[in-house]
Amino acid sequence: MRSLKVSLGERSYPIHIGRGLLDRGDLIVPHLKKPRVAIVTNDVVAPLYLDRLRTTLDAVGVASSAVILPDGEVHKDWATLNRVYDALLSERCERSTTLVALGGGVIGDMGGFAAATYQRGMPFIQIPTTLLSQVDSSVGGKTAINHPLGKNMIGAFYQPRLVLADIDTLDTLPDRELAAGLAEVIKYGLIRDGEFFDWLEGSIERLGARDTDALAFAIERSCANKAEVVAADETEQGERALLNLGHTFGHAIEAGMGYGQWLHGEAVAAGAMMAAELSRRLGWIGADQVARIREIHQRARLPVTGPALPVDRYLDLMAGDKKVEGGQLRLVLLRAIGKAVMVGDVGRDEIAATIASCTR
Ligand code: NAD
Ligand code: GLY
Repeated sequence: MRSLKVSLGERSYPIHIGRGLLDRGDLIVPHLKKPRVAIVTNDVVAPLYLDRLRTTLDAVGVASSAVILPDGEVHKDWATLNRVYDALLSERCERSTTLVALGGGVIGDMGGFAAATYQRGMPFIQIPTTLLSQVDSSVGGKTAINHPLGKNMIGAFYQPRLVLADIDTLDTLPDRELAAGLAEVIKYGLIRDGEFFDWLEGSIERLGARDTDALAFAIERSCANKAEVVAADETEQGERALLNLGHTFGHAIEAGMGYGQWLHGEAVAAGAMMAAELSRRLGWIGADQVARIREIHQRARLPVTGPALPVDRYLDLMAGDKKVEGGQLRLVLLRAIGKAVMVGDVGRDEIAATIASCTR
């Protein structure tokens, strides 16, 4: 098992990464206020892992209840969130009950928001079961649901007390979902870890083939990058915004196509290519670097162009991005592979031309 820490003073918490962690009740118990948990999961993950987790909890004397939500990004909404509150209330969960999110990023984000708001806040634990959630969404305390007018628009910063990433769970993950997780892994290399990007160029096929050592290293390195950024800028006043490379374009793709049509990681991959291409147009990176970025996404079996929505539709959706300040769109672009910057003065024409050249 590899362990890291997100350093946030009294709210610091560990991230444990390894195989067989779903059986390790001893890792969970120290983070509970009372021996009672409410597990939030979905109808895909529950048949795979819910009984195993409940058996583990039972063995260490922790009582558990479970709410099983419908699967999918399309259900990351108010109606589904309300089902979590319904379950917590009808089970008479207390403030001292710990909410455990067992699933991918949708369950983690929605379960985390329920925990942040139920009785003004209950403790919560992340047990991420997708690559994307193990390398990104379970760490850092961003919780949210979607609104029809924008992705992740309703939410809160609310940190978990523990992240338990069991690599065994990736054995059942569909190939397309594994690839989507690789988009966020590649993102860390692009924004702040050029050495990791170099390693990824030599290892991406091993990751696609689910090689245990490669996965463990990539998850640990991704979480280490994320933990550093979150510790320095928990509520995204500065550096944390760089973690959104490709996301402004990507969120427009997700919302514009209808939630769930494009996976989040797929949209981020196409968005990262748009950011790279715009960076090239501005003269910051060369065509050779854009080619390297395209190639690693292709080798990871990720899309490198966006869907052919009208350019105005992209721009309209991007105008609602959370990074917009004073009506000015701000984008994360690249000065080099391994160095992202936030830019607020790119002309609309440059952005439109980039979108037009990166969609089909
Ligand atoms: P997801 O939660 O929809 O999971 C992907 C699919 O895999 C789902 O069908 C799920 O049921 C299934 N699944 C989960 N674990 C499985 C397993 N072990 N075996 C088989 N199937 C499994 O999607 P995701 O990619 O994990 O997360 C995407 C979400 O995360 C988006 O909503 C995105 O906005 C959010 N996100 C949040 C943050 C953050 O910082 N909070 C960061 C990145 C992404
Ligand atoms: N996934 C972006 C962030 O956590 O800030």
